[in-house]
Amino acid sequence: MQIARRMEPLKGVLVMEMNMRLAKMKQEGKDVINLGIGDPDFNPPGPLLNVLQEAIGHLDYHHYPSFYPQQPLKDAIASWYKRRFHVDLDPGREVLPLLGSTDGLFMVHLCLLDSGDLALVPDPSYPSYEAGVQVTGGQVQKMPLQRENEFLPDLEAIPAEAAKKAKMIWINYPNNPTGATATPEFYRKLIAWAKAYEVTVVSDNAYSEVYFDNRPPVSFLEFSGAKEVGVELHSLSKSYNCCGWRVGMAVGNPDLIAALSKIKAHSDRGIFYPMQLAAINALNSSEDFMEKRNQIFQERRDVLVAGLNKIGLKVYPPKATFYLWARVPEGYSSQDFCFKALEQTNVWMVPGSLYGRYGEGYLRIAFTHPVKRLAEAVERLQGFR
Ligand SMILES: Cc1ncc(COP(=O)(O)O)c(C=O)c1O
Repeated sequence: MQIARRMEPLKGVLVMEMNMRLAKMKQEGKDVINLGIGDPDFNPPGPLLNVLQEAIGHLDYHHYPSFYPQQPLKDAIASWYKRRFHVDLDPGREVLPLLGSTDGLFMVHLCLLDSGDLALVPDPSYPSYEAGVQVTGGQVQKMPLQRENEFLPDLEAIPAEAAKKAKMIWINYPNNPTGATATPEFYRKLIAWAKAYEVTVVSDNAYSEVYFDNRPPVSFLEFSGAKEVGVELHSLSKSYNCCGWRVGMAVGNPDLIAALSKIKAHSDRGIFYPMQLAAINALNSSEDFMEKRNQIFQERRDVLVAGLNKIGLKVYPPKATFYLWARVPEGYSSQDFCFKALEQTNVWMVPGSLYGRYGEGYLRIAFTHPVKRLAEAVERLQGFR
C-alpha cells in the first residue's frame, strides 16, 4: 500500500495510546490514576438525557440528518452566543454545526491552506492544529507560549516575513494545556495584527464554560472587527459534560463558514437528529449546573495546587479549563519524569513536550477525578519525589 507522502509527518495521538495502555494496566490489577483525561467526570444534565432518550424512540428520527431542518440548531447556537458573549450572529450565514469542534478544527485547514502555505501555531498547543496543517501539505511556524508572557503568543515577535506569508493563525483560550486565558487587550491587538497582515484567525474556545473565581472568559468574536478576520470554534463537549455527543460549532466570518459547509457536505452527513434535539435543548436551557460543576473543579484545582506546591512542584494555577500546568523537577525531561512516575506510582501525567518544544520541562495534570483521588495522587507523588 502506498500511503500519500503528506501523511508522513503525521504522528499518532499519544494521549489515546496511553489511555489504552493504562486501561490494560488496570486490567492487570494496577490501581492507576490517569491524570491525562481531558473529559469531564460529570454526567450531562439529566433533562438533556431525557430529551435524547425520548428522541431516539422516534423511529422516523434515524434517517440521514439532512432530511431534518438544520435551522433550529443554528438558531439555538446563535442565541447562546448572544446570551453568553453578546455576539450577534446570522444563523443562516455565520453559524455551522459541527461533529464536535475537532471536525471544524481539522477541516478549516482544507479551506484556508494550499500546499506550502504557512500557518502560525502556538507551542505548546493541542496537537490536532499541527496535524491539520500537515495533512493539507501546509507549513507550520510555531509561536512560543511562555510563562513570562502569561502563555500568550507575542505577536510582535512574529517575524514580518512570516506574518506576511501566513494564511492563518491558531489561538486557543482558555488554553489547553496551560490553563491560561486571554485578555480583551490581546484580542484587540490580534485583530489589528490579522488585518494588517491579512491573516485569518481561528479561535478555539472549547473551554470557555469551565472557569474559576466567577470570571467567565471572553470570546474572540466579542471584539470589533473579529468577524472580518476569522471564526471561532466551540463545542458542547466540555461545557455540558458530553464529549461523546460530538456536537460543536463554527461561528463567525460568513465566507469561511460557507467554505467549511461546502467541505462538510462531502465529508459527513451531519449530526444524528436526536443529538441535535438534545443540543438545542442544552443551548436553550438553564446553565445553573455549570456553576456547581465549576465550584467542584475549583476546589480540586486548589487542593492540587496546595498539594503539589507542598511537594515542591512549581504549578501555574489555571484561571479556566480543568488542566494544571506544572514544571517538572530539575534534572528530568518531561517524558522521563512522567513515565518514571507512572512506573513507580501508577500516576499518569501528560509530558508537556507532547504539546510542542516549548512544553518541554512541563507536565499537564487533568483534574477530572474527585478530590480524594487527586489527594491520593499527590501523596503517591510525594513518595516518588
Ligand atoms: C483545545 C481543544 N480544542 C478542541 C478539542 C476538541 O473538542 P471536541 O471535538 O470534543 O469539541 C479539545 C479536546 O480535548 C481541546 O482540548
